[in-house]
Amino acid sequence: MRPGGALLALLAGLLLLLLLRLLWSSTDAPARSRLWVEESREATHGTPAALRTLRSPATQPPRTMNSTYLNEKSLQPSERCKNLQAGLETLSNKTKKYSEDDYLQIITNIQSCPWKRQAEEYENFRAKLASCCDAIQNFIVSQNNTPVGTNMSYEVESKSEIQIRENIFAMLPVSQPFVEYPYNQCAVVGNGGILNQSLCGAEIDKSDFVFRCNIPPTTGNVSKDVGSKTNLVTLNPSIIRLRYGNLKEKKAMFLEDMATYGDAFVLLPAFSFRANTGASFKVYSTLKESKARQKVLFFHPKYLKNLALFWRTKGVTEYRLSSGLMITSVAVELCESVKLYGFWPFSKTAENTSVSHHYYDNHLPKRGFHEMPKEYSQILQLHVKGILKLQFSKCEVA
Ligand SMILES: *[C@@H]1O[C@H](CO)[C@@H](O)[C@H](O)[C@H]1NC(C)=O
Ligand SMILES: *[C@@H]1O[C@H](CO)[C@@H](O)[C@H](O)[C@H]1NC(C)=O
Ligand SMILES: *[C@@H]1O[C@H](CO)[C@@H](O)[C@H](O)[C@H]1NC(C)=O
Ligand SMILES: *[C@@H]1O[C@H](CO)[C@@H](O)[C@H](O)[C@H]1NC(C)=O
Ligand SMILES: *[C@@H]1O[C@H](CO)[C@@H](O)[C@H](O)[C@H]1NC(C)=O
Ligand SMILES: *[C@@H]1O[C@H](CO)[C@@H](O)[C@H](O)[C@H]1NC(C)=O
Repeated sequence: MRPGGALLALLAGLLLLLLLRLLWSSTDAPARSRLWVEESREATHGTPAALRTLRSPATQPPRTMNSTYLNEKSLQPSERCKNLQAGLETLSNKTKKYSEDDYLQIITNIQSCPWKRQAEEYENFRAKLASCCDAIQNFIVSQNNTPVGTNMSYEVESKSEIQIRENIFAMLPVSQPFVEYPYNQCAVVGNGGILNQSLCGAEIDKSDFVFRCNIPPTTGNVSKDVGSKTNLVTLNPSIIRLRYGNLKEKKAMFLEDMATYGDAFVLLPAFSFRANTGASFKVYSTLKESKARQKVLFFHPKYLKNLALFWRTKGVTEYRLSSGLMITSVAVELCESVKLYGFWPFSKTAENTSVSHHYYDNHLPKRGFHEMPKEYSQILQLHVKGILKLQFSKCEVA
C-alpha cells in the first residue's frame, strides 16, 4: 500500500470513530455516565463564553479580546436583561459542569432584572407541551384512557408490561379528575431548604391549586414558610418502605401524616418501575380501607415517557426527570399561571449563607448539585422568558 493510502485509511477510520461517537451520544443509553465523561472532558476549557456574558459587570473577568458584552456597563438594564436570556439558552446547550458559584452569579443577575409575565410565551410553551404530552388527557391513568385488558409498558423498565385487569381498573378514576381545570394561579412547592424562614406560606395558600412533591411536612412551625394547603402531592413509593415499614406496623403513622393533606390527590409513579407497583397499590388499599379523604392517582407511564422525550430535545438527558420538573410541566398545562417555590439545588443562598437540602431536615444536598443544572437551567429559562415565576427569596409579607 502506498503511504498516502495508509494515511487515507487512517483518516477514514478516525472519521468512522467520530461518527460512531456522535451516534452514540444521541441515543439514550447511559445518560448519566456519559454526562460525567463530558463534564470531566470539558472541564478544562475554562469559563465558556455563555457564562461570561452572564456575569455582572462588577465581576467581569479581565479579557484580552473584545466582545459584544464587554461594554455591558453602558448597556441599558433592559438590554442587559435581554442578553441574559440569550446567554441562558446557550448555557443549557452546553454539557459542561458549572460551579455552584457560577450559577449563583447567574441567579443574582437574573434577580436584578424585573420579571414580567409573557402571556404569548406561556401560550406557545403550553401548546408545545400539549402537542407532545397532553397532560389534560394523558397525565394520569384513567378508565377512559386505559381499557380493561390493556398491556401497559412501564415507564423506565419499558420491556416489562403489566396487564390492567379488573382489580387494577377498579382503582382508576373514570376520567381525569381535574374538574375545575384550568386553574388560575398555581403554586408548585419544591422542598428546598431555601423555604426555611421564607414566610411564603400565606402567599402559597392563596393559590388556586397547590402542588407538592413527595409528601413533605406542611403543619406546625413550617406552615408559615410553606403553607398548609395541598391539592396534589406526589409520593415516591420508596418512602413507603423507608419511612412507613411497608405500611405494616407504621400504618397509623402513615394515615396520620396523610390526613394533613385533606382531600388532596396523592400521585404515585406506580408504573415507572416494577418495584413501584405493589407499594402503590398498597397505598391505594390502605387509604381506601380507612376511608381516608385523599384520592390516589397513578402517573401514566406513557405521559412520563413523552415528557422525558420533550425535555430531552432541550438537552435534559438525565436518567429520569425529577418529580419537580414533571409536576411543573403538568402545572403549565393545567393552570393559567404558575409560580415555583423551594426550587433551589444549591448548598447556599445567593448571599452565601448555607442552605439545607430540604426545608424539613438539615441534610446537605445528597445528590450533589451537579445532577441538577440541566433541569435547573431550563427552569431558569422559563423564568427569564416570563413563562413562570421562580421565587428565589423571602416572600413579601403584607
Ligand atoms: C476593541 O474595541 C476597541 C473600541 O471599539 C477598538 O479600538 C479595538 O481595536 C478593539 N480591539 C480588538 C482586539 O478587537
Ligand atoms: C440550543 O439548542 C436548541 C435545541 O437543540 C436550539 O433550538 C437552540 O437554537 C440552541 N440555542 C443556542 C443559543 O445555541
Ligand atoms: C396482553 O398480553 C397478554 C399476555 O402476553 C396477551 O395474551 C393479550 O392478548 C395482550 N392483550 C392485548 C390487548 O394486547
Ligand atoms: C420546627 O420544629 C421541629 C420539631 O418540632 C424542629 O426540628 C425544627 O428545627 C423546627 N424548625 C424551625 C424552622 O424552627
Ligand atoms: C462564601 O462563604 C465561604 C465560606 O463560608 C467563603 O469561603 C467564600 O469566600 C464566600 N464567598 C463570597 C463570594 O462571599
Ligand atoms: C431553619 O433556619 C433556622 C434559623 O436560621 C435554623 O435554626 C434551622 O436549623 C433551619 N432548619 C433547617 C431544617 O434547616
